Formats: sequence, C-alpha cells, structure tokens
Amino acid sequence: MERPMFRMLRRGARRVSLHMPATGGRAPFKRFDPYGLDTTELAVTDDLFRSRGAIAHAQALAARSAGAARSFMLHGGSTSGIHAMLLYAARRGEEVILPRNCHISALNLCALAGFEPVFADVAYTVQGRPYTSMEAYERAMDAHPRAKAVFAVRPDYYGLMPDLRPLAKAVHARHMLLLCDEAHGATFNWRHDIQNALAQGADLVAQSAHKTLPALTPGAWLHAAGPIDMHRLLSLLPMVQTSSPSFLNLLSLDEARAWMDRYGAPACRELGEALSRFYRKARHLGYVRAQEDAPPGFAYDPLRLVLAGPQGGYALGQTLENAGIDMEMCDECCVVGILPLRGYQRPLKRLLAELQRNAEGLPLSARSASADEPKSWIPGKSMRVLPLAEATFASRELLAVGKAVGRVSAVTCGLYPPGIALVTAGEVVSEEMAEFLSRQDLGRLFGLTEEGLLPCVAGMPLMKEIEA
Ligand SMILES: Cc1ncc(COP(=O)(O)O)c(C=O)c1O
Repeated sequence: MERPMFRMLRRGARRVSLHMPATGGRAPFKRFDPYGLDTTELAVTDDLFRSRGAIAHAQALAARSAGAARSFMLHGGSTSGIHAMLLYAARRGEEVILPRNCHISALNLCALAGFEPVFADVAYTVQGRPYTSMEAYERAMDAHPRAKAVFAVRPDYYGLMPDLRPLAKAVHARHMLLLCDEAHGATFNWRHDIQNALAQGADLVAQSAHKTLPALTPGAWLHAAGPIDMHRLLSLLPMVQTSSPSFLNLLSLDEARAWMDRYGAPACRELGEALSRFYRKARHLGYVRAQEDAPPGFAYDPLRLVLAGPQGGYALGQTLENAGIDMEMCDECCVVGILPLRGYQRPLKRLLAELQRNAEGLPLSARSASADEPKSWIPGKSMRVLPLAEATFASRELLAVGKAVGRVSAVTCGLYPPGIALVTAGEVVSEEMAEFLSRQDLGRLFGLTEEGLLPCVAGMPLMKEIEA
C-alpha cells in the first residue's frame, strides 16, 4: 500500500521541533482518535456561523480569555481573520495603511478586494530587522487622511512588537480602525508581562493559536472590540472560510483555550525562565540571544527563541537540520525557534547538546549585533506604477528574474518565512531587487514560478527606474 503522507509525517514526528505548531506533538488533554470525533454541522453539533450551542459557548470563553467583546473561531488560520478584518474596514477602491513588512495575507486580500494599499515605510533595527515606527504610521496617515484603517503586525517572527497604545490613539483620533495581526502573539491573552493588542486599543485582532499554543494547525481566533458591528463581521466570515469547518480544529482551539485558562500563565513564566537558563549556557559556547536591538517604543517577546552563532544563522540552521532539529526560520545572523509551552525541555536540551557539539572550533564571539547586516532587503519606497489589483489580474509574461529589471511585476513575491513582500504586484522591479532575488534559495521564494521565473505584466513598456 502506498501511503506517502503517513510515512512522511511519521518520519517528521521523530525529529526535534522548534517550529509551529506549538503542540509539542501532543494533545493538551488526553489523546483521542481524530476520526472518531470528526463530524459536520448538524442539529446536535451547532453551526459555526450561526452558533447557539457548544460553538457559541467556546467562543464566549475565548472572548473572556482575550478580553474581547466577541471572539470567532477561525479554521483558516490568522489568514482568514486578516481577510475578514480588512473586508470589514474598507470597500473597493478605498485605502488602507499597511506596514511594508506586513504578512502576504494582507496584500492578497487587498488584491482580491480591490483595495489600495498605502505603505508605511520600514526602518531597520541594528540587526537589520524591518519594523514600522509610530512616525512612519503618522506620516502615512497624514498623507492619506481618507484611509479607512491602519494595519499593524505585533509581534513579528523575531518577537519584535510595537507598543500599540500611542498608535491606537492617533488612529482613532482620525476616525480610522486599528487592525492588528497578532498571529504570533496568542500567548499574550494569558501573560502577565505583555498585554494583547485588544488591551492596547486595537479594534480587530487575529491570533494564530497553532503558532504558540497547544492547538492544531491552522486554528486561530478573530477577536473584536465593543464598537465593532458584529452582524456585519459575522456576515464576512463565511466569505473567507470553507462552509465545511473542521470540528477537530474547533475542538483543538477550545482545548488550547481551556488548557491556557488553567495552566497558561505559569507555563509562560516557566518557559521564560527556562529560556533564560538556556541563553546563559549557550553564551558560554559562543551563542547569544539576538533580541537586544528593540528600537524606542518596541520590545521583544522573550518567549521567542532568537539565537545568533559565530557561523551565522543559515549555517547554524543547516547544522541543526542535519542533526534532526528543525527551526522555524533562519536568517544571515540567527536561527528563530518556537517552543511548546508543554514539553519544551526536550527540544531545548537537544538544541543545547547540538550547540555544544558544534562549539569546538568556533570563535567564542557570536555575531549578534553587526552593523554590516543587509538592511535594505525591503525597498524604502514603493515603485508602484499600476494598482495592486489591476497588476495581479493583468495578462502576464514569464521572465527570468535578471530580464525583469524595469518591468512591472504581476505578482507579489518575497521570502517565506517570514512571508514579507519584497516586490508587490504593480511595482517596477529594480536592478537591486532582481539581483537580491536571484541570490535567494528558490525554495524560500514565494510568487515566482516553480522554475524561478517572475510573472510580469504583459505589454507594458520598460519602465525607467523610479528614484527611491
Ligand atoms: C505575521 C504573520 N501574520 C499572519 C500569518 C498567517 O497566519 P496563519 O498561518 O495562521 O494563517 C503568518 C504566518 O506565518 C505570520 O507570520
């Protein structure tokens, strides 16, 4: 019998996971046979989009934990929550302000719905991580006073997060909505050291439970603050999700919520302490915590593992992968890991043992904060010549990346992880960007074809590069 998926997953389960989902490979409570509990929407099982029974109850409990007026279970990840919140905020042709370092899901929705994304510029931390400052948002709001909403990401892959309170004040003073992608911040509902985005004034917040809680992929929540028109929001949710919700996914969301209500706060504290001990030991081996460069108004989530080593992040990630340890992400400088709140001990121990094995022969000075990190991988200014939606659905021709210089991209493309766009559809491909793209591992690039070709808008003349 050929069962390639089962064989692949079983092989994967033997490896050490420092990536999502943060289940640690175990159900939070007693194990169950997934086939035995899978079902559909019946009189006795409730209806996700017209819930009155267990689903309504589970959502009310999720809202209580998050401090939301209402919460909605999502079985399409934060992606579906981001899509619903943007659809709620704007109508076709209207503007929304996005940080240039937002996740691809926000741009995809703008293309589908015909919204005009207005980018708030990125700046870079000392270690070359993109972030969007309060001043950049203010500039974008001043330049686009008719924008309907401001979209913020909090935290990013590295755990870097802005204090949303001043932004919420400024956004609401302009009668706009503050939408927050808190995909990596679901633990904040149960933390003593960090407030969630709702508590900091956001109107709508998407959280991926599967990224940091003991929940199955791709369970997530959309949380809404009091003034949101819940009927309208609820009418949008079926438009971005399947009409056959996975009850196993809904179950796992509620199980994760129940576990977090009971054990979450101490579990987060314990994981933080375990990570501090881990960093102390790793430092003796030449590896350091690479979360020291938060700009003013920003902080790092200490539960995100970000480790820099003397050999650089890609080489370290490869060494770990060869040893059976899979990280969430690597970059030039460091590796990023996600640890489960239950069962973090084994992966941390295995990681430390592997660092120890690799410490020999390496200089005892980790490349943590280096001034020579590449800082310009996201363009400073958008070189847009066509609206995003128009370019996305235009007829296209496939070009080798080197031949696409001066052409208008028909796709939004970038690196995954972290899923940030380098070129968005409708922007001119610069020589610098083409060169950057051609240096990347094809497996990590999204938007390009399997052969590495870049779809460009057909029939457009070669653009002279617009000065950044
Ligand atoms: C910042 C950010 N936002 C949104 C998403 C999408 O979340 P999901 O996979 O739950 O749809 C991701 C996924 O990696 C992400 O990193």
